[in-house]
Amino acid sequence: MANLRSFLLLVGALLPTISAAPKPASRSMARSDNVLEDASSTESHLRWVSDLHARNTGKRDTTAGIEKTYEISGWKAYAGEFDDATIAGIKASPEVAYVEADVLVPAPKLLNEQKTAPLDTLEKRHLLAQPDAEWGLVAISHRSTSSSSDYVFDSVAGQGMYAYVVDDSIRTTHMEFENRATFGFNAISNNNTPSGDHGSFTAGIIGGIYAGVAKNVRFIFQESTSSLYTITLILRDSTNVVTFPKGRNIHQSSSMTTSLSQSSAFPLTAIQTNQKPQINLISVKVFDERGASPDSVILSGYTWAVNDILSKNRTNKAVINLSLGSGNTGIEQAWVDAITAAYNQNILTTVSAGNDAAHVSQHSPANVLLAVTVAASNKSFTIADFSNYGPGVDFFAPGVGILAAASDSDVSGLYADGTSASAPFVAGVAMYLQSIWGLESSDYLVAALKGWGAARMVGKLKNSPNLFVNNGNGVD
Ligand SMILES: *[C@@H]1O[C@H](CO)[C@@H](O)[C@H](O)[C@H]1NC(C)=O
Ligand SMILES: *[C@@H]1O[C@H](CO)[C@@H](O)[C@H](O)[C@H]1NC(C)=O
Ligand SMILES: *[C@@H]1O[C@H](CO)[C@@H](O)[C@H](O)[C@H]1NC(C)=O
Repeated sequence: MANLRSFLLLVGALLPTISAAPKPASRSMARSDNVLEDASSTESHLRWVSDLHARNTGKRDTTAGIEKTYEISGWKAYAGEFDDATIAGIKASPEVAYVEADVLVPAPKLLNEQKTAPLDTLEKRHLLAQPDAEWGLVAISHRSTSSSSDYVFDSVAGQGMYAYVVDDSIRTTHMEFENRATFGFNAISNNNTPSGDHGSFTAGIIGGIYAGVAKNVRFIFQESTSSLYTITLILRDSTNVVTFPKGRNIHQSSSMTTSLSQSSAFPLTAIQTNQKPQINLISVKVFDERGASPDSVILSGYTWAVNDILSKNRTNKAVINLSLGSGNTGIEQAWVDAITAAYNQNILTTVSAGNDAAHVSQHSPANVLLAVTVAASNKSFTIADFSNYGPGVDFFAPGVGILAAASDSDVSGLYADGTSASAPFVAGVAMYLQSIWGLESSDYLVAALKGWGAARMVGKLKNSPNLFVNNGNGVD
């Protein structure tokens, strides 16, 4: 037998034939270790299900039957709406590994939202980015509390990378994204317009020009003399030339007296001539104005992203940030399998720990072992009071008082709290490290993230690891 592990996810919405308020789908699960080895056996299984469904339901029932199928390199699943008898038949099939209900997942929320001045004003104020940066950017670029308020970053940051933002869509025209954001897939409707601020906000943390981690600042680099480098800093609408002694490293583009560091972390040669550093932000819409989506819809957005990455050869160049989570779900096997299959194809998934002030083990898919799970810290490096916690957390990242793009105009910004803000910091740093180091596997990327992580948290961490995400520039 092939060692492809294949599972079937079944979504049983038990439709009351008469009566009653429609319930959210109810949950049931079955397991077996059987496998569907190839496409033809999968097809014949699906045909068998359709026939069973047709036989059981006859004319009186309106359950939809099979609605969606999923596949990530050998992991297979399907979802649909079935009557009780069909579900029982499916559970009894030796080809079915387990059956889970289609849990309704609430759209993630930002906490304490506060609109700000337009971001373009803010950006002009900081045109020669990025002194007086937002605290989160400062925090991820320093290893210890210093008086610096600079965001210190490498110009390569995010170049050629792809961040898949599984959320309520992105306002792609927002000036923070400089035409780097596109619509990839819509699992829920035909309308790509964001239904809220969430996706734009978090995409803005990953790669916004002002508020983002992996930014679009362009350096043009020439070697001029044997002992000096000449750097042309092109920061949107201004051009400046700075000369650096050879052997030093540039960490910062903040001003014409750009600070230098002796750290050997990023050799100058990492800066590529004439290339426009960029991170591409791809919207995968799975939430809309209804405010909650079934797992079956979110999973179809997720599998689309994984397969898009695989088919376009973007493994090692992409990260998926999952915008979902529900408390008290325990383990959802379909998510374990999907995220694990992606990880094994070298696609990393960052997930927020959740805002229930609860143990992360109850929060799916944050509780998936191979998901990179991110909890929220405040500016004093204390765990945020709303943040989930526990040994299942991989990193802390800024999550209180975070500024990023909002969706109501092309310049609007928002301050908000939430582990939703924390996960994209790690997604951004992952892409940043990946663009610089070209790490070849998920294992290496996670090791690099962990290796650069700094023990900056203070106070009670409730058994979470003391590891604050850091962009690895070596600055204290
Ligand atoms: C994908 O990448 C591999 C290795 O870098 C290369 O050999 C192959 O041609 C690429 N395929 C596509 C479709 O770009
Ligand atoms: C961070 O949280 C701790 C504990 O709740 C609190 O004492 C501290 O004032 C907070 N820091 C900021 C900057 O809000
Ligand atoms: C990242 O995922 C978290 C939930 O896991 C979500 O709250 C946040 O909005 C996502 N960010 C992006 C950019 O998709």
